[in-house]
Amino acid sequence: MQAVILAAGKGTRMRPLSDETAKPMLPVVDRPLVAHVADAAVEAGADELVLVVGYGADQVREYFGEEYAGTPVAYAVQTEQAGTADAVRAASDHLRREFAVLNGDNLYDVESIRTLFESGPAVGAHQVADPTNYGVLSTDGRTVTDIVEKPDDPPTDLANAGAYVFPEVAISWLDVPESERGEHELTDVLSRVIEAYDVTAVELDEWLDVGRPWELLEANERRLGDIERRVDGDVNDDATLDGSVVVEAGAIVKPGVVVEGPAILRQGATVGPNAYVRGGTVVGPDATVGHAVEVKNSVLRRGATIGHLAYVGDSVLGRDVNFGAGTNVANLRHDERDVKLTVKGERISTGRRKFGVVVGDDAKTGIDTNLQPGVRLSPGTTTLPGADVDRDA
Ligand code: UTP
Repeated sequence: MQAVILAAGKGTRMRPLSDETAKPMLPVVDRPLVAHVADAAVEAGADELVLVVGYGADQVREYFGEEYAGTPVAYAVQTEQAGTADAVRAASDHLRREFAVLNGDNLYDVESIRTLFESGPAVGAHQVADPTNYGVLSTDGRTVTDIVEKPDDPPTDLANAGAYVFPEVAISWLDVPESERGEHELTDVLSRVIEAYDVTAVELDEWLDVGRPWELLEANERRLGDIERRVDGDVNDDATLDGSVVVEAGAIVKPGVVVEGPAILRQGATVGPNAYVRGGTVVGPDATVGHAVEVKNSVLRRGATIGHLAYVGDSVLGRDVNFGAGTNVANLRHDERDVKLTVKGERISTGRRKFGVVVGDDAKTGIDTNLQPGVRLSPGTTTLPGADVDRDA
């Protein structure tokens, strides 16, 4: 099976994390998000990967090279991000037979993708509580009868999970007109396939669409849940590692540290002395969690530093972020309502009672900075000593 993986999008809803990194290249535990998609495709039987790249193309190429997990990788460049059908059309020169398409920013489980690959033509479906934001599938049992984009009145609760197997003939059906949203959408290609073929709806056991910052946190929570304890780094005898903790080679854990799993300390990370790393945390490559720092359920990207005397919970910190001493992240509102975040200018509920902050690369906080729940800091932002930051900066 040839598997086309869509990874050209800009990821505007993921800002500021996608300002400097293509969204599919954001980390989920020890790999980029799109590598989890590629892994699922290869394990499910893909014999060739075609990666569609555009925004941040070099980052994707550098990571995957010409071969990934023993599978050849081809690239197709989408010059303008004109939608998912346009992205697959950009890859059409590589396509020769029945082919699969997977979103490069979704989490899938391998077994479901294997079933999808064996059921073509097929589309992945997943039950969701609120289908109004998705393509919604209607079926008569196993066969898809219709798909509608973002309906006000959804006919079912089955969302289109952005995973498809198309028949060979669809290679010549990719040139669809612009939709109302101003994009060339793959669901319009799927509609044509539904008219001509029996398209199987394959219910995926796992599906997570990682479009917004809290979904990146959720993706990390989920994949951290799968890790097994492994200690290859340098752990002081006076440190405690509790549960599923991975300490990669080259990571250092100093005296007085407590790490509660699931957590991963990546290559070159330094933790302690006397730090408390709680479950759900990824301390990225070369990142630092220093003396008297507590970090809980957070992702620290490469080189992020929380030097001393700080609390960070339910947050994502970009590359080379530096938190001054006494920086505190509030991750719970006193009224206990779900934390909201601004996404493309709109205040959106994260659906989480606990959520902290999202910090772009190279941002720095002054000493004693307080960051309120749901705040986003743009790359390179600085805060003054003693600042109380309750809106995006
Ligand atoms: P999304 O709809 O999530 O778009 O794309 P996006 O650009 O990543 O994010 P926003 O809407 O700006 O926040 C679903 C998948 O299709 C790819 C994306 O990379 C993502 O993996 N895609 C989307 C393309 O490859 N090209 C496009 O023109 C659009």
